Amino acid sequence: MHSIVYLSTASEPMGTESLNLLLEVARARNADAGVSGILIYGDGCFIQILEGELQPLEAIFRSILRDGRHYGVKTIQFEPVDGRRFGDWSMAFVDDDDLTPTDRADLAQLRGQAEILARDEKGDPEFLAVMMRAIAPRLARHLDSRRNAG
Ligand SMILES: Cc1cc2nc3c(=O)[nH]c(=O)nc-3n(C[C@H](O)[C@H](O)[C@H](O)COP(=O)(O)O)c2cc1C
Repeated sequence: MHSIVYLSTASEPMGTESLNLLLEVARARNADAGVSGILIYGDGCFIQILEGELQPLEAIFRSILRDGRHYGVKTIQFEPVDGRRFGDWSMAFVDDDDLTPTDRADLAQLRGQAEILARDEKGDPEFLAVMMRAIAPRLARHLDSRRNAG
């Protein structure tokens, strides 16, 4: 079992319709491939966590890398994991606005750091990985509470 976390920039602002279309295809394919995860969209940026067995995971990630709906894909984590965090979701989706102010602030900081690294300026790639390890469980809990609420 492996997990990939990346950030990218939307080529054009994504409306509800385009996002739903993207998610429909993604969820069907992920379900077939045993891939789960979460996609966060806000500020014209995507943050995605994907998890699954290495081979199907890489096949899907290769498609994602080729997708013209975003650019500047920056992988911040690609590592073996013991288990799934988002096992109940073929691809959960959250809009930045759905999140708590703390999570929103952390994700904004994450995007800022990723931009600095993308410009090849002084930045600490490990910092992003460390931050993501702190944020991911909070996102999973957020999804749990949302589901239990309704
Ligand atoms: C931000 C973003 C996230 C995506 N996430 C997934 C995903 O989790 N699973 C997936 O199968 N496709 C995802 N896609 C769509 C793929 O890029 C691709 O269009 C789709 O898998 C169909 O594959 P194909 O174009 O190779 O036929 C995503 C695309 C974008 C832009």
